[in-house]
Amino acid sequence: MKVHIFAAALAASVAFSGAARATDLEVTHWWTSGGEAAAVAEFAKAFDATGNHWVDGAIAGGGDTARPIMISRITGGDPMGATQFNHGRQAEELVQAGLMRDLTDVAEKEHWKDVIRPASLLTECTVDGKVYCVPINIHSWQWLWLSNKAFEDAGVPVPKNWDEFVAAAPALEKAGKIPLAVGRQSWQTSGAFNVLMVAIGGKDIYKKVYADKDAKVAAGPEIAKVFKAADDARKMAAKSNVQDWNQATNLVITGAAGGQIMGDWAQGEFQVAKQVAGKDYTCLPGLGVNAIISTDGDSFYFPKLSDPEKSKAQEVLASIMLSPKTQVAFNLKKGSLPVRGDVDTNAANDCMKKGLDILAKGNTVPSTNQMMTEDSNTQINDLFAEFFANPSMTPEAAQKRFADIIASAQ
Ligand code: GAL
Repeated sequence: MKVHIFAAALAASVAFSGAARATDLEVTHWWTSGGEAAAVAEFAKAFDATGNHWVDGAIAGGGDTARPIMISRITGGDPMGATQFNHGRQAEELVQAGLMRDLTDVAEKEHWKDVIRPASLLTECTVDGKVYCVPINIHSWQWLWLSNKAFEDAGVPVPKNWDEFVAAAPALEKAGKIPLAVGRQSWQTSGAFNVLMVAIGGKDIYKKVYADKDAKVAAGPEIAKVFKAADDARKMAAKSNVQDWNQATNLVITGAAGGQIMGDWAQGEFQVAKQVAGKDYTCLPGLGVNAIISTDGDSFYFPKLSDPEKSKAQEVLASIMLSPKTQVAFNLKKGSLPVRGDVDTNAANDCMKKGLDILAKGNTVPSTNQMMTEDSNTQINDLFAEFFANPSMTPEAAQKRFADIIASAQ
């Protein structure tokens, strides 16, 4: 009996004194690798410093596993406080269903329109003039990460572009290395293919295929060259039998593999391993062929909640995620670029500086998540998982299926 009276008295005094009660807010995301965990901890730390409490809802298995879980919780009436999606169209149906919280007040109060760049990141969060998400970083798929040790062990120079990398594969194999590390989850194989498309086919071809859904181009000679390169890539990756992307990055970190085509979230792993860009590893934007970056990356969405305290805490979190201090702290550990142009990036390493430079020149392409529906992307993921796993599937047969998918893509 006595304890209850004390607790009630305390609650009353807190409420009366107006002191903000620590509000628990569950945040779901798929950041479980060493580098990802180090980065997301910066958000948790900043949010907890506001007197609220970040309840971490990490989901293992990558985005393809996490997103269906997030969506079914929101549509099933068990929403979290905030959740990660990639920039683009993944949360389109949730917003259209009226399940997501409108952040326009926060966005206007904090002038997001003036600080977020490229502006397209905020446009993608905006439906019928209302803002439904906070973009938090710019990640680019367009990177080749190379192990300086692997090439030293193989007695060949570190390549400066894709063709030199392919030419170095026999020497790497002779030295017992896996030339190309690829995780076998489907999104990683299609991601590698798309990077080859931008590097070898070029920006326009890439946009013709994915933005214009031009099946003729997808079936054409330019894309045939990309399938030839993908054929080289799958041969170089034949002995790469890991699943997760960060396991493949670890093969590069340890020098067991020569290189990996992966988004710059890989940087977080090199940092956790205390490896230095330029000294221990080499990074080639656009595979050293075409210095282009894609505007992939992440935004946070906030499901509608009935609890007013949690709704207030959602606003605090959205604001914290975009604050200059948190933007720098998070992105430096994540390996991504801040979405604000007004922050100090002097602490960025050589690779991030290359990315910032390309971004400043505007040499960017949209991500496939920004151009295609999740369903069309999943079909392409499945095709490339099969192509990389089954050497008897010819590049010509794979290209035919690819063109068919593009013909019906949304
Ligand atoms: C991407 C996400 C990145 C990254 C990666 C691997 O979808 O945008 O932030 O961490 O998945 O998990």
